[in-house]
Amino acid sequence: MQVNRPLGTEDLIDRDARSWNEMQRMAFDMFRRYGYVPVETPMFEQTQLFVHGIGTSTDVVGKEMFTVRSPGALKKMGEGAALKPDEVLSLRPEGTAGTVRAVAQNNLLPTGGAPVKLMYAGPMFRAERPQRGRLRQFHQIGVECLGAHDASIDAETVIMLMRFFEQIGIPGESMRLLVNSMGDENCRPAYRTAIRDYILAHSEDLCDECNRRADTNPLRAFDCKNERCREVMEGAPKISDALCDDCREHYTRFKRHLDDNGIAYEEDPRLVRGLDYYTNTVFEVQVTDGLGSQNAIGGGGRYDKLMSIVSGKDAPGFGFAIGYERIMLALGAAGVDLVGEDALDVYVASVDDSCRDTAFNVMMSLRDAGLFAEADHQGRSLKSQFKQADRYGASICVVLGPDELAEGQVAVRDLATHEQERVRIDDITGYCVDAMQRR
Ligand code: HAM
Repeated sequence: MQVNRPLGTEDLIDRDARSWNEMQRMAFDMFRRYGYVPVETPMFEQTQLFVHGIGTSTDVVGKEMFTVRSPGALKKMGEGAALKPDEVLSLRPEGTAGTVRAVAQNNLLPTGGAPVKLMYAGPMFRAERPQRGRLRQFHQIGVECLGAHDASIDAETVIMLMRFFEQIGIPGESMRLLVNSMGDENCRPAYRTAIRDYILAHSEDLCDECNRRADTNPLRAFDCKNERCREVMEGAPKISDALCDDCREHYTRFKRHLDDNGIAYEEDPRLVRGLDYYTNTVFEVQVTDGLGSQNAIGGGGRYDKLMSIVSGKDAPGFGFAIGYERIMLALGAAGVDLVGEDALDVYVASVDDSCRDTAFNVMMSLRDAGLFAEADHQGRSLKSQFKQADRYGASICVVLGPDELAEGQVAVRDLATHEQERVRIDDITGYCVDAMQRR
């Protein structure tokens, strides 16, 4: 029997797994300087959290959630009984809703103090049609800042993200930062109605899905992939013309901070994003090289109502998430590698079987001294042990032969210079540590 991994998932092996770890390390190191602390929330939550938080008319909730059932719930279903809401679970499609729930449930909300700033990294799950840069299990790194409405939070978070992308090596000229304001509960309803009316007035030219959206979620029509719908929606009223004074002022201050800090951006009045919780600022970072249509490497925005929707408490929020797999594609296109080869420090070779036990002990003491050391475990000839050392990219090869061992010595070969010398076996660990430090 051969079982393959599920559709739309990947195995992260060696370089990929190390790159994922390295990206998290770099991100957390930087975000920490902006006041973020790590959080780990469950990979599954009650489905109602996502339904209410993200919105029923979004693709993520409507079409893409993986449901999870405990054996007890399955038994109940088998008996025809209805499940209680807390028995209906889904794998998390994103990290914001779970983080906001955790803040509320753990009473982390600031009471007059500084905002709560949380960062996370982990797999997310969406049952999308897999393609390049679009997976069913993908990895996000994200931040959520709760408790402050000021536009300076929007700006510092976006600036932090752009600095991060710069630091990991995505070329500035291949990135586009798109920004928009979605308004708030004062100005958005009228705008929503205006878009609904626009869709109804152009219903013949728009696809069925967009027509359906007229009543459920008209702003989503801006996100339609259909070329004709895109052209028609180009002519729709712009949210920038419909913002109330507060939202306009908030958006202006956000952009002014970006200008003052040298962050280039493009205003895109049609950027609506795929999740319903956004208010005011939204943004997305797209790359022009290496990704094709799935070109958003990160996105986020403000969500001042999400906390009250999922917990009944009130706190404004702002955050973003970035996609590991898409960033790796963008870095690949730019020829950037996050991790070098993990080359071996020392290979310990044995001339014949009589030396193997000592070789094992030398290898172990090298490892105890902090070096990356290997020896043969398959009874290979000396020649193939040397080949093995080359394959590992070893810096040093320690060769144990019966004649040298009889004199308490080993041969040490520098595999870069091919220089060879004899070292007392008792000194070999210190010798290798010094040699590696000198490199
Ligand atoms: P999102 O735009 O849905 O936002 O996802 C953020 C990023 O995750 C995307 O820009 C993309 O790089 C990556 N991504 C999303 N779906 C996939 C997929 N199927 N395969 C590969 N990568 C993917 C959110 O998730 C929000 N929670 C962001 C946020 C945080 N807003 C406020 N706070």
